[in-house]
Amino acid sequence: MEPRTVITIDGPAGAGKSTVAKLLAATLGYLYLDSGALYRLVAWQSSRLGLDLADSPALDAFLAGLQPEMAADAQGFHLWVDGQEATPFLREPQVSQQSSRVAVLPPVRAWVTEKLRHWAQNGGVVAEGRDLGTVVFPRAECKFYLDAALETRAARRRREWQEDAATLSPEKVAQEIADRDRRDANRAEAPMRAAADALVIDTTDLNPQEVVNQCLAKIRELLPDTAGLKITREMKTG
Ligand code: C5P
Repeated sequence: MEPRTVITIDGPAGAGKSTVAKLLAATLGYLYLDSGALYRLVAWQSSRLGLDLADSPALDAFLAGLQPEMAADAQGFHLWVDGQEATPFLREPQVSQQSSRVAVLPPVRAWVTEKLRHWAQNGGVVAEGRDLGTVVFPRAECKFYLDAALETRAARRRREWQEDAATLSPEKVAQEIADRDRRDANRAEAPMRAAADALVIDTTDLNPQEVVNQCLAKIRELLPDTAGLKITREMKTG
């Protein structure tokens, strides 16, 4: 069997990572891994339990007991804890903010990294996040870093939230994203940044399929024998 690949997609909120990662994974027949969902899960579950994040032994015990089940398909990445699906709760704005607070904690990062490496052990993975090309999978065969103007990213987030967006001003959403960017880029542990060998794509003026096509062109160049690239249909742009 030919060796299977790990593809990483990093970048800030609203840069288009999830959309592109899902499309790429579906095109290549790879498993889609969303590392942000794991940070969100830690934020959501620790808040529900009223965990004191400054209490190291309690945090360690909490993480040791947190054993989510995972399933990924073309619709997305799903997580269950104790038989309950957590996915619908993980995109709430307060969970978003809290996720970037738990993400500065080294034991939380170690827990997420261990889960991702375990799920990716057979390769054939498209994994998205902030530090996947730099820390989690530094030897990934193909790395991308997506970025876009803050206003564009905020507008995408508002569209994604649909009914809730009416109650959130564009300024408030942009502020929420900028706060998270700052925490993610400035933390001591695994700060958000492009790996030296990542292809950086500015998605401000691109639609998702245009980004996917740029990624596929790079994957073909770096990995001409990748099984999933025996695709015949080029994705249409526009
Ligand atoms: O990607 P998403 O917006 O779901 O990520 C939520 C938060 O999880 C980010 O703001 C960031 O603080 C954290 N995160 C991280 N490292 C990753 C993925 C996400 O620190 N690889």
